[in-house]
Amino acid sequence: MRQHAHPFSSHPISSAWVASSNTALAPTTPIPPSALCRAYSSSASSVKAAEPPASPVFAVAGVTEATPADDDPHSCMTPKAVVELLDRYIIGQDDAKRAVAVAYRNRWRRKRVPASIRDDIVPKNILLIGPTGCGKTEIARRLAKLANSPFVKVEATKFTEVGYHGRDVDTIIRDLLEAAIGLVRQRLRRQHEAALRAVVEERLLRALHSQEQLGAAGQPAVVEALREKLRKGELEDVYIEVDLTPPPGARGGGGAGGPGIIDLGGFGMGSPQTPVVINLTNLGGKKDVRTLKVREARPLLEDLEAERMFPPEQLIKEAIAATEQDGIVFIDEIDKIVSGGRGPGSWRSGDPSSEGVQRDLLPIIEGSVVSTKHGNVSTDHILFICAGAFHSVKPSDLMAELQGRLPIRVELRPLSRADFLRILTEPEYNLIRQQKVLLSSEGVDLEFSPGALDEVTRVAEELNRSLDNIGARRLHAVLERVVEEISFDAPELVARAREQAGAEGQQAQAGTAAGAGTTPVAEAQSSAAAVSSGGTAEGAQQAGAAGSGAGPDSPAAAPGRVKVVIDRAHVERTLSALLQKQDLTRYIL
Ligand SMILES: Nc1ncnc2c1ncn2[C@@H]1O[C@H](COP(=O)(O)OP(=O)(O)OP(=O)(O)O)[C@@H](O)[C@H]1O
Ligand SMILES: [Mg+2]
Repeated sequence: MRQHAHPFSSHPISSAWVASSNTALAPTTPIPPSALCRAYSSSASSVKAAEPPASPVFAVAGVTEATPADDDPHSCMTPKAVVELLDRYIIGQDDAKRAVAVAYRNRWRRKRVPASIRDDIVPKNILLIGPTGCGKTEIARRLAKLANSPFVKVEATKFTEVGYHGRDVDTIIRDLLEAAIGLVRQRLRRQHEAALRAVVEERLLRALHSQEQLGAAGQPAVVEALREKLRKGELEDVYIEVDLTPPPGARGGGGAGGPGIIDLGGFGMGSPQTPVVINLTNLGGKKDVRTLKVREARPLLEDLEAERMFPPEQLIKEAIAATEQDGIVFIDEIDKIVSGGRGPGSWRSGDPSSEGVQRDLLPIIEGSVVSTKHGNVSTDHILFICAGAFHSVKPSDLMAELQGRLPIRVELRPLSRADFLRILTEPEYNLIRQQKVLLSSEGVDLEFSPGALDEVTRVAEELNRSLDNIGARRLHAVLERVVEEISFDAPELVARAREQAGAEGQQAQAGTAAGAGTTPVAEAQSSAAAVSSGGTAEGAQQAGAAGSGAGPDSPAAAPGRVKVVIDRAHVERTLSALLQKQDLTRYIL
């Protein structure tokens, strides 16, 4: 078996790592807040004004401690900036947005006060109160994403009191740390992407170089020729022999499937929940050399080299810091662990498990140290957002101490039909856009007429009234049903349209067809759209307009694509049968 020396004797990344690990609280994710804020401040001057002075001095009566110079990328996430960012994704619920923005900022502020008084400032955690599907979880999830913070969402009912069989609340913090590990890993990988690619390219070149059919070894010209071919993707199917032995003490980053390697996900594969698993196989010095195609070897080498660049102990150190300083925990269904509430202001211990879970949550929310397999995590600065519908109990039925730790309370309102329409169309990645993008990948340009959208919201509202009120979640189910047909038929529809367009194109070339002003592609669109809209009168009209590109709202699709218009009649047709059978509706919508 051939051994491949590492192309670099000393790793180019190691010094970068040391530098970044000294500033452990660098942004932990894809879009660092600083970048967000830069983008934001270009459109909103108010955010610039909110930037802290270069060397802020703490000046409260009796305290003259200076805070450290502020290079925290979260600085520009002022409450106003956070609300405006949340507005891009969540419709209405202004009070809740303001509340989370302020709580988030207060955590930032609390970090900055002198240690001598910090402990006396109670973390400003939040209690969101509102009906199902009105945006409680979405607000917390978006906040975490915008802030690039480690985030976990748990349901309070899933826990049991310490000492009883089941999940205890400490697992929340352990899961949060795993999320942070995933984020830090992604960030590091992204930050050092170019270096990583260069290292892997060198390793691939060495492996290719040693293949007989690809030329004599050791000649720079040959190497450069190989490099060019490699970069052009011409060598992807060439077999090479690669050494995928993970560095000692690393996770099994050489790829899943190796004997004895416990690998629960590749480095940077994006799962924040991916646990770090130590590879025990290589402690004995066993090599893992495999023969693979270049295209198969590349991702495995990238995983392996990433392991080498970012040693697990450094990764964990940064992840613990990110958990402690930036973590956000969302505890849903907090009202379901309230067992009392029958008397005014009372909290009764009717259910020992619920009572126990509340009691167990308290130290975590108050600030304590949780031990994990990666080390201790302090919960002092973690932001807790709790939520519940509080239909049958009141927030005042929570344990008094827990109430004290959730000082910010905010009610979310039920969503109206007008809100539904906005939710369908306005948020950055709204449901309609998601459907369009999905089908666009098949070559279908999907459009919804205003009538169709109106009908979708009408049906969603009606179902919420007649069945359970599940809020905006109903829109997902209704819309899925509406697009089901086109979603299923799309590939064949596009293929047929392309075939037809090709045939008509040939005819046109032979001078036998192609009527004036109507391209073969437009003809294909026309028939496809009519099929997809189910052949209703309005649908055919829409389809015709789409196909000829006549309607101002229905420009013709690009060549080789199919335009489909979903109109009110289509929505009525797809949903009417279901709506008539309530039993069926209950399951499907
Ligand atoms: N105000 C809103 N703006 C935009 N989308 C919303 C809004 N409310 C709900 N949604 C949509 O509905 C889905 C469900 O919302 P979410 O998970 O936030 O509900 P919830 O209030 O947490 O409900 P539950 O009490 O059942 O947990 C979200 O994924 C989102 O797509
Ligand atoms: Mg929720």
